[in-house]
Amino acid sequence: MDELEDVKKRIEELRGKVNHHNYRYYVLDSPEISDLEFDQLMLELKRLESEHPQLITPDSPTQRVGAEPVEAFGVIEHPIPLLSLGNVFSDEDLRAWHKRIFGLVGGERFDFVCELKMDGLAVALTYEDGRLLKGATRGDGFRGEDVTQNLRTIRSIPLSVPRDAPRRFEVRGEVYMPWAGFERLNEERGNPGLPLFANPRNAAAGSLRQLDPRITAQRPLDIYIYALGWAEGAVPETHWEALEYFKSLGFRVNPNNALFSDLDGVVGYYREWLERKEGIGYDADGVVVKVNSIPLQERLGNIGHEPRWAIAYKFPAVQAVTRLLDIGISVGRTGTLNPYAILDPVSVGGVTIKQAALHNEEDIHRKDIRIGDWVIVQRAGEVIPQVVAPVAGRRTGGESPFSMPSRCPVCGAEVIKPEGEAMSRCTNPSCPAQVYESVKHFVSRGAMDIRGVGEKLTASLLEAGLIRDAADLYSLTPDKLMGLERMAEKSTSNILASIQKSKERPLSRIIFALGIRHVGGEMAEILALNFGSMSRLQEASYDELISIRAIGSAIAESIVIFFRQEANLRFIEKLRKAGLTQLEAEHRERGELPLSGQEFVITGRLERFSRAQAEARIKELGGSVGSSVTKETSYLVAGEEPSSKLKKAKALGTRLLSEDELHRLIGD
Ligand code: IVH
Repeated sequence: MDELEDVKKRIEELRGKVNHHNYRYYVLDSPEISDLEFDQLMLELKRLESEHPQLITPDSPTQRVGAEPVEAFGVIEHPIPLLSLGNVFSDEDLRAWHKRIFGLVGGERFDFVCELKMDGLAVALTYEDGRLLKGATRGDGFRGEDVTQNLRTIRSIPLSVPRDAPRRFEVRGEVYMPWAGFERLNEERGNPGLPLFANPRNAAAGSLRQLDPRITAQRPLDIYIYALGWAEGAVPETHWEALEYFKSLGFRVNPNNALFSDLDGVVGYYREWLERKEGIGYDADGVVVKVNSIPLQERLGNIGHEPRWAIAYKFPAVQAVTRLLDIGISVGRTGTLNPYAILDPVSVGGVTIKQAALHNEEDIHRKDIRIGDWVIVQRAGEVIPQVVAPVAGRRTGGESPFSMPSRCPVCGAEVIKPEGEAMSRCTNPSCPAQVYESVKHFVSRGAMDIRGVGEKLTASLLEAGLIRDAADLYSLTPDKLMGLERMAEKSTSNILASIQKSKERPLSRIIFALGIRHVGGEMAEILALNFGSMSRLQEASYDELISIRAIGSAIAESIVIFFRQEANLRFIEKLRKAGLTQLEAEHRERGELPLSGQEFVITGRLERFSRAQAEARIKELGGSVGSSVTKETSYLVAGEEPSSKLKKAKALGTRLLSEDELHRLIGD
């Protein structure tokens, strides 16, 4: 018993630390410890929780990997509707807006808060008794979709708030996808040939509205909180104070928000961000100007779906027309042939564009883009500009349709396009382009994090034949490195030291570094946790993999295929010889959870816990929750006033549980 108390204390201590460092990293963007140290805390917490599943709570930082999929989203009514915003496109319109509301409040002067208008999707988060209770999309403003389990996977959304927060309250904010994450996601999707997202907003919406939260968990989503929905008890007098208060509760608030006492300040802010918006790393399509005083906001009220007290001053869209000179091909890490547009240089919103993304062959044909066409290019904010469409009216007849080459432009090997996939691939696993991309991935920050081995050095090392794959990095010597151009003694020893240091990276990083298709950072962690060593993972069968909650058929298949390939096994063997310390570090049995393999369906009203709590608890213990009774259902939990599900369960002979029995089973 004492021992369990100790474990409990350690778990609480670890959660406190992990939450603190998550907050430093994801909310404040100012970490205090290294990723490695963080991983160690997290791994210890995961280990203790998997050994003592009864101690898992829904607000534990380990519970962000994503719950079981649902068949459809529930509906959440917004007690106070989520409004949209009116738009203005010029200083003149902005001043007209100001004049109107200035008149409406009888000439009383007021301050403004200016915020960037993030281009994502609005969500409402409800907290009760210090915990995140539910989260919903905007929907039609009155009713949104219940995406609670998906929102829980976003690291910068606190699962719990300090004790002195109101007992119940709702905050609102924008879920968005930063550019870097958007590009990485599309790159990952391009490999198996999944359809690409057109822009970060679609990617954010698509990721949040996943029926399987485990997919959302792997998407690089983030959030800024920008408004209070409602709260029990006293609320701040001004919007600015509200924003400060959100920060004190641990929410992520945009640091670029600013307070102004006059409209000139507002116009200055707009001008400033029109210039600077390329530097923030995510799409912002304008500035939201809000009246600071909340009593004044209330006096001004709404007109239709829009508040009178706020307005969006939109940035102008940035498009230009230019000639598509040619279509180039780059070869990705897994051999995909990625077409891109080579353009007659053109200035789009002040930036000169020479290249733009073209997703895949089908996309090019669907848009009917031909070499030699005049095309519309757009920079919606993403770092990589896009070709939107051809200007068909300007064709001369000399344009030529695009077709994928049948030989790899880098190594000349045969190109294939597997059935059902959108991407063509080079068939040569030692194609220099693939090797180069694999080494880049291996040394990247989320993988082995080998500082100092950048793109240039990687290219020179490959070119000079000093390495033939990433594992060869471990056999580099000072002599070999010094032989390269522009390599000084100091940088040589720094680079060798960081290569040496990377030998201690945790198993999850090593798995990620292998670059297995569909295995991102989060999945690599799940694999490391479940298998504990590379050799166990190597031997895992398809069935064994698929029995893990977070692993679907595509991932399982890709892992099995990866470990079947001789070249990959040889690569791992090289890493083993190099002396990576964590490759076989933790031999551990997989912990089965008490309700693993049991499916529950709940009907009627529960008295002791909310439906969401009961579901969360069942899932924590390894069970799943279905929405209708089938042959697969293990238990029907019948509360007050059960629905027709009870009849169906009786007909099928499904085991019935009363609320008390459920309570005993999942004993909170
Ligand atoms: S305030 C009544 N602030 O813009 C106030 N909205 O066009 C309405 N948005 O649905 C929201 N950044 O999704 C507000 N700083 C910001 C925002 C913001 C982005 C989005 C939000 C809203 C849409 C309205």
